[in-house]
Amino acid sequence: MSESSNTIQRRTFVSTAAGLAALTVLPQCLRGDSESRPPLNFIIVSDTHIGYKLKTGAEKQWEKTATELAGAKGDIVIHLGDIVDRGQESQYPIYLQSRNRIGKPVYEIPGNHDPDDLFKKYIRPDLDTAIEHHWLRFLLVNNARRDSHDGFLSGEQIDWIDQQCQEAKKKDQFAFLCLHVPVHQNKHPDRGWYVKPENGQTKFYEVIKKHQDRIIAMVHGHFHNGMRGWDDHGIHEVCLPSALYNLNRGLKEKGAAGYNPLEFRPGYTLVSLTGGSLKFQYKPTGGEVKVEKRIEATQTL
Ligand SMILES: [Fe+2]
Repeated sequence: MSESSNTIQRRTFVSTAAGLAALTVLPQCLRGDSESRPPLNFIIVSDTHIGYKLKTGAEKQWEKTATELAGAKGDIVIHLGDIVDRGQESQYPIYLQSRNRIGKPVYEIPGNHDPDDLFKKYIRPDLDTAIEHHWLRFLLVNNARRDSHDGFLSGEQIDWIDQQCQEAKKKDQFAFLCLHVPVHQNKHPDRGWYVKPENGQTKFYEVIKKHQDRIIAMVHGHFHNGMRGWDDHGIHEVCLPSALYNLNRGLKEKGAAGYNPLEFRPGYTLVSLTGGSLKFQYKPTGGEVKVEKRIEATQTL
């Protein structure tokens, strides 16, 4: 047995012990020089829905989460949308109040519950933006609309993603894509909410394929199904847990494609990029990590 396959077996075992045996050989860009880059740690939170059911539960949960994020491992926080519930303007200042507790930079994208004008007023003037974080370039893309659960990407947005990936290459960075609604096709027993071919999916995947060696992963919110992902387009795609509530839709028992580990507590995701490996840890707020997804830069398996 070679030294490298020994290493892989050990890593697989560690993942199993943590509760989820999921080791995927992706993406191309984690091979080679990324192994020698300094490790990066950041946090992803999603679907806080402040003002949910016109009650204060979501506000209290976000306060608890934000307090925990202040001490969590990670230099920056990405919020994947649905900041408030049903576009209630009164809830944005409440969101921002607890956000201030975090004490690290927080970057949001709008979800289908966040009206564009209110996002611009309370969060940031630009809906789509790029954030440079050491050797990573986060592309924050607004693909949600108030009147639909589906995702939408315009030709201009896809051209912008194309340019940003080229820019990342020029600056020797890797891209990390953040969009509220998944692009990946999903049907019953899943939600059936995604970027349909006529709404930009086809052109988007063409561009993504072109930059396969530059894009580390695509992350989404929207689903409230814990960690729900797919590995079949050459780039890792995953909907990450809601900080407010997650539902078990029985996807595993119903034989849905992809993966959906059995963890549905409200929480957030600790992301680490180290030694050519990408790791997502599902951290329940106030609880211990029982589920992690690890993606390795190797062709050994
Ligand atoms: Fe949503």
